[in-house]
Amino acid sequence: MRLKTSLCLLAATAGLAGCSAEGDRPGMMFLPNMVDSGVVHAFERNPRTPEKPALQAPPEGTIPFDRPVFPYGPGPEEARRAGAELKNPFQGTPEVLARGRQVYVNICSVCHGMRGEGDGPVIGRFPNPPSLQAARAKGLPDGQIVHIITRGQGIMPSHAAQVLIEDRWKAVRYLRQLQGIAPAPPPGAGPAAAETLAGGAQPPAPTGAGDGGSSAAHAAATAGGAR
Ligand code: HEC
Repeated sequence: MRLKTSLCLLAATAGLAGCSAEGDRPGMMFLPNMVDSGVVHAFERNPRTPEKPALQAPPEGTIPFDRPVFPYGPGPEEARRAGAELKNPFQGTPEVLARGRQVYVNICSVCHGMRGEGDGPVIGRFPNPPSLQAARAKGLPDGQIVHIITRGQGIMPSHAAQVLIEDRWKAVRYLRQLQGIAPAPPPGAGPAAAETLAGGAQPPAPTGAGDGGSSAAHAAATAGGAR
């Protein structure tokens, strides 16, 4: 009887001790191996490589397995080649323009301004981009603009990591509308075959991350930016 009472008391005390969890304190844990598996979490320091966080950028040149590779390297020559060879696979349908507007407003307008006049809210802290309403920008072929978004140009960094390839084409459609040179949307037009998005059969560019005089941090963020 006494033994039973003591066992009950012991169990109750152990149970109560287990209830003392609070904040970061997990309370009493029996067999804690499954709770703390020894795995280094993404934002912890890895004791084996303490100079870097556990979550690391993929090795340079890494390409996504589920996205088409953008087959043009960085630089103005490749930009012109993309402009000559690529065609926008999307027509200016209301859906395409709506998505293009969303991309433009969320991503591009910060620097380029809502109407592309180079007067976005970061101006003052970031150098003024040229007006997208200027004759030069109006004369750039769609493929060249997609190249600029993908690989960057001068001090404009690559936006390959932020904007999917199809959204880059749609943003260009919207930009054309902003520039007032959009062709009227043809009735019933829809997106062309997805495999034309990255330009078809050209060999992949040998280079890895996007360029554009971007900082090391940006290069790290867009490692694998061959998208
Ligand atoms: C961080 C600011 C920034 C963002 C965001 C940005 N750009 Fe730019 N963009 C620039 C700057 C600065 C230049 C001028 C680069 C140079 O030639 O040195 C430029 C150049 C361009 C040009 C070439 C203009 C010309 O006359 O040569 C185009 C086209 C363009 N951007 C389109 C876009 C689009 C579309 C987006 C959104 C997907 C975008 N940019 C996002 C800053 C930005």
